[in-house]
Amino acid sequence: MGQLDGKTALIFGVANHNSIAWAIAQKLAAEGARLAFTYQERMEQNVRKLTAGMDGALVMPCDVQSDSDLDAVFAQVGQEFGGLDILVHCVAFAPTDDLKGRVSRVSRAGFLTALDISAYSLMAMAGRAEPLMQARGGGSILSLTYLGSERVVPGYNLMGVAKAALESAVRYLAWDLGPQNIRVNGISAGPLRTLSARGVGNINDMFGLVEQVSPLRRNIEQGDVGDVAVYLCSSAAKSLTGDILYVDNGFHVMGLGTM
Ligand SMILES: NC(=O)c1ccc[n+]([C@@H]2O[C@H](COP(=O)([O-])OP(=O)(O)OC[C@H]3O[C@@H](n4cnc5c(N)ncnc54)[C@H](O)[C@@H]3O)[C@@H](O)[C@H]2O)c1
Repeated sequence: MGQLDGKTALIFGVANHNSIAWAIAQKLAAEGARLAFTYQERMEQNVRKLTAGMDGALVMPCDVQSDSDLDAVFAQVGQEFGGLDILVHCVAFAPTDDLKGRVSRVSRAGFLTALDISAYSLMAMAGRAEPLMQARGGGSILSLTYLGSERVVPGYNLMGVAKAALESAVRYLAWDLGPQNIRVNGISAGPLRTLSARGVGNINDMFGLVEQVSPLRRNIEQGDVGDVAVYLCSSAAKSLTGDILYVDNGFHVMGLGTM
């Protein structure tokens, strides 16, 4: 018996086999959830190949900047699944020039794009998920964030600003959707080698620092995030909402980073 038998889950953000979304998907599937995936157009082949062996998986295109794409995805999930128990948001983007340049020089357009894709998209998804989750008596919404939202991590820059908005959205959505028994939480993950992580300056230094400084003296793996995602989506976490859980081997508790 899996912890998520009979549950349905919609997962945004699989780009390839290294994606955190893919690690979460595999863990949810192993616990019995039926999955639906969305992909950004250029990732279609990867996502179709990865999901080919998954029984009954739905695979749909979605650019999260498009309201009509989002409408179509949730309509199809409603039709095929008749409701939704779990929503996983693993989507982030900032234009390279704005991410790599000085924070004081971020363009208005770059800011709007980063905040739209990385933070507003969670709110846009949550609103559309609400009726589908209500049909199931409640649900669990999960998003991915990083410590750079609350501390200055050189190189994380504009994405830190976007993650601060995302984390605030997690709290306000938890309050907004709580009466429907819909829980909203975030996982603040330590650094992982993924496609998006390559866009962040100093990522290689971050791995060394985590190994040196974190209480557990090692880096995390994608599957560690998947395990905590299963917990957050299971009935064991039924009283947990509006929270950010750190999956970073304790790195965030440290006051001095280089000793
Ligand atoms: N890798 C890390 O070190 C790390 C650490 C903490 C948090 N995170 C967060 O985890 C989440 C997943 O990232 P990842 O590291 O697995 O990288 P990833 O590149 O595998 O995933 C990012 C996803 O965002 C999608 N995306 C970007 N713009 C989109 C758009 N307009 N429409 C639809 N999809 C879009 C991409 O297609 C991709 O699937 C992100 O929110 C990221 O910020 C990553």
